[in-house]
Order: sequence, then structure tokens, then C-alpha cells
Amino acid sequence: MWRNSRMRWGAVSIFFHWLSALAIIGLFVLGWWMTGLGYYDSWYNLGPWVHRSIGVLLLLVTVVRIVWRLVQVTPAGEGSRLEKLAAHVGHIALYVILLLVLGSGYLISTANGRSISVFGWFDVPALVHGLPNQASIAGDIHWYSALALVTLAAGHALAAFKHHWVNKHDTLLRMINPMHRSRKM
Ligand code: HEM
Ligand code: HEM
Repeated sequence: MWRNSRMRWGAVSIFFHWLSALAIIGLFVLGWWMTGLGYYDSWYNLGPWVHRSIGVLLLLVTVVRIVWRLVQVTPAGEGSRLEKLAAHVGHIALYVILLLVLGSGYLISTANGRSISVFGWFDVPALVHGLPNQASIAGDIHWYSALALVTLAAGHALAAFKHHWVNKHDTLLRMINPMHRSRKM
């Protein structure tokens, strides 16, 4: 139920997947919206604060998620050899780009040497600061990698729907229900 098997994703992996997907979409929309706000808007400071706080929590969740992923077996892929290879490479790319977005976000926020307050609950120290043009270079990386992440995730979602509707595979259902019984079993 909690752990993965060769047939199914366990509840922990499923929980991490959908929590991350929700947070990433929310952070993208919030990031885009908040950078267009005027100085006198009441969300001018609040927006980035909420964005950074959720971002740091997602960073922590992602580290735990990747460790969990590495110590668990994973269900076998479905589809042709080429599809399996594409899915494997695509999933690794999603993780790598996600880490790039999270890392660059951290570097923008700590460029001036200030720590990040996470909803006022705890502070994350600025470990790297004062690099030349840190905020603007990290800002560019953050924007382009965030764009790449949501674009790749959209393609990934389309692939999941293709498996579900066209090929009638269990791919999507087993990422939703840890108790899912395969139609082929
Ligand atoms: C998957 C996670 C994340 C996504 C999808 C995301 C997305 C975005 C987007 C779309 C923007 C607007 C960029 C622009 O218009 O230039 C933005 C800005 C920003 N993000 Fe993130 N972000 C994420 C995580 C983080 C994290 C972890 C932090 C910090 C700890 C962070 C800090 C910032 C800051 C400070 C800005 C404002 C940058 C500026 O004004 O140029 N983000 N983010
Ligand atoms: C920001 C959004 C998303 C990200 C970053 C993301 C990322 C990932 C990653 C990295 C994996 C591989 C899991 C692993 O091997 O550890 C995965 C699996 C999966 N994702 Fe997503 N995902 C997102 C959204 C979605 C959406 C919207 C859907 C469906 C509509 C979806 C459906 C699936 C399915 C079905 C699997 C399992 C694939 C398999 O069993 O081989 N994902 N996702």
C-alpha cells in the first residue's frame, strides 16, 4: 500500500507526485502574476513571500521524494521500447529541471545575503550570496527553467492521457490509486 512494487506505485510516491504537480502549477501562476504587480498593490510583498515559502517547502519535499524514489523499486513502464525510453528520459529531465527551478529560486532570494522566512515558521540561511549579477542571472535561469518545466509537464500529461484513452494502459490509474488492480492481471 505505502511502498512501490513492480506492478504499482505506492501511496507515498502517489502523494509526492500530485502534491508536487499542484505546487508547481500554483507556483508558476503565482510567480507570473506577482512579477506584474505594482508597488502599491497589497500583494506586492505578500506574493513573493508566499511564493518563496511554498518554494522552499517544495524544495524540502523534492529532496525527500528523490531519496524515496532511489530506495524503492518502480513499476515497469508500459508501451513500446521507444516509449519506455522516452518516458524514462522525460522523467529524469522533469526532476533535473525541477531542481534547477528550485535552486535558481533560492539563489535569487538569497542574492542580497538575507535569509528566507518560510511563512514565519523558520528561516533558511543565505549560503551563497554576492556572486556577480547573482539575482539577475538566477532570475533568467529561474524564468526559462520554470517555462521549460511546465511545458515538459504538459507534454507529460498528454502522454499520460494517451496511455489512458488511446492505449487503454493502466499508467494513469496506477498513479492515482495505490490499490489499483490492473485490467490485465
Ligand atoms: C517549481 C517551483 C517554482 C516555480 C514553477 C516558480 C516559478 C516562478 C515564475 C514563473 C516566476 C516569474 C518569473 C519572471 O517573470 O521573471 C518566479 C519568480 C520568482 N521566484 Fe519562483 N518558482 C518556483 C520556485 C521558487 C523558489 C523555491 C524560490 C525561492 C526560494 C522562488 C523565488 C522566486 C523569486 C524571488 C521570484 C521573483 C523574481 C523576480 O522578480 O525576477 N521560486 N517564479
Ligand atoms: C508539474 C506537473 C508534473 C510533474 C513535474 C510530474 C512529474 C512526474 C515524474 C518525475 C514522474 C516519474 C516518477 C518516477 O519515476 O519517480 C511522473 C510520473 C507520472 N505522472 Fe507526472 N508530473 C506532473 C503532472 C502530471 C499530470 C498532470 C499527469 C496526468 C494527467 C501526470 C501523470 C503521471 C503518470 C500517469 C505517471 C506514472 C508513469 C508511469 O507509471 O510510468 N503527471 N510524473
